[in-house]
Amino acid sequence: MTSQIIPVEPFDFVIFGGTGDLSERKLLPALYYRQRDHQFSEPTRIIGTSRAKLSDEDFRNFAREAIMAHVKAGDIDERELGTFLARLSYVAADATTGAGFDDLKAALGDTDRIRAFYLAVSPNLFGQISDKLKQHALITPNSRIVVEKPIGRDLASARALNDVIGDDFQENQIFRIDHYLGKETVQNLMALRFANALYEPLWNSAQIDHVQITVAETVGLEDRVTYYDKAGALRDMVQNHMLQLLCLVAMEVPSSMDADAVRDEKLKVLRALKRINGNDAPKQTVRGQYRAGASAGGPVKGYIEELGHASDTETFVAIKAEIANWRWAGVPFYLRTGKRLASRVSEIVIEFKPIPHSIFDDGAGPIFANQLVIRLQPDEGVKQYIMIKDPGPGGMRLRQISLDMSFAQSFAGRAPDAYERLVMDVVRGNQTLFMRRDEVEAAWQWIDPIQQAWESARHEVQGYTAGTWGPSASIALIERDGRTWHESN
Ligand code: BG6
Repeated sequence: MTSQIIPVEPFDFVIFGGTGDLSERKLLPALYYRQRDHQFSEPTRIIGTSRAKLSDEDFRNFAREAIMAHVKAGDIDERELGTFLARLSYVAADATTGAGFDDLKAALGDTDRIRAFYLAVSPNLFGQISDKLKQHALITPNSRIVVEKPIGRDLASARALNDVIGDDFQENQIFRIDHYLGKETVQNLMALRFANALYEPLWNSAQIDHVQITVAETVGLEDRVTYYDKAGALRDMVQNHMLQLLCLVAMEVPSSMDADAVRDEKLKVLRALKRINGNDAPKQTVRGQYRAGASAGGPVKGYIEELGHASDTETFVAIKAEIANWRWAGVPFYLRTGKRLASRVSEIVIEFKPIPHSIFDDGAGPIFANQLVIRLQPDEGVKQYIMIKDPGPGGMRLRQISLDMSFAQSFAGRAPDAYERLVMDVVRGNQTLFMRRDEVEAAWQWIDPIQQAWESARHEVQGYTAGTWGPSASIALIERDGRTWHESN
């Protein structure tokens, strides 16, 4: 995609967990691309840190391999890669003891340059690292801290963590990442809604029948056994990514793209979500867990076999959510997400109301309600389904077609990964695409009663065969309301 690259001022970027999985797969490749697109000014430095005793050279070798493995071969420019690797250095530091934090301080020096501390580590280290940064006087007015989800596992633990980090950093220095917000197509949702006059007058309960949000994955547990089995799909996907998508669809028009203007509107949506309590949970939620089946043309194990022991953790969730405000009263938002589903697809479907009266006779065929489908991944694009006359003689026959806008066809070039945008926003100090403390907590406030309802009523997980669209109860959830899931293929 073509865009004008504006260089950012020099900065120091410290990656805690510098040799970990996130750094390898996402952060180093994202930073390399920003180098290749000449977005850095001199002297920008990237410092890796972890407990391991490594030399600068070891870290550079690690980064080179990470980039070779996770950047397309055609995008490797040896000269730019050399310049990038020369920016890298390494300091060993241990957040549990504080060892090495003075070395990090010495490496950073006494500057007022922008300083980003990216915590690509297990969340149980977030508080300790934040505190050690403060104790060793590493936090300057120009410093930022970046934390990944999960921010807590319920409201109480999220508050406790926010308190700890909030004691060390100001809210405008805290960047809570939800990488979905960095996806091009997710940002495009705001462009679609707020840069076009067409949709806004239709964007309400008078014109919209319901909304569907699907984030389906084909992968299974991958190697995140310990984390995932404690979290489950509700905490892993719904509390953050799915609710953020729901907010972008449902929020009022913000007064500007200013971070707080956007986040204020998202917060109002989260606060207007109707609570799902113990009585509602059996009707409005479905939990599933995949059993052995097939994926990508081959047999795959069930969740429990992958895990190696019995577990009640859900790998699939479907929820009928409702927003209690004027705009959305009576418009259900059906959410579903899961692992080992039939295909990898994330999309938002806005289904409009049917026409109030048909002037066509039965021979014309069924008249389908208009749908707007925003495909987030893969095959990013927007489709508007409309009814037309089937061309040719033979009377008036109607047909549904889609007006298609495919990003790949409309825009040449590479679609940057979400992290490229997000790491640069950290440096720029732009928090629009990051979650504010109150948003994270409001999301937990809605999630906690669902989790509690499941636990207290022993709402058992329903098995589904890997490679399908989840348990049949998920189909029943929407069909009870006389609606069907959009065929996401
Ligand atoms: C992460 C979840 O936040 O998002 C993972 O922890 C999930 O379980 C991933 O696989 C999905 O992200 P993407 O960008 O591949 O859709």
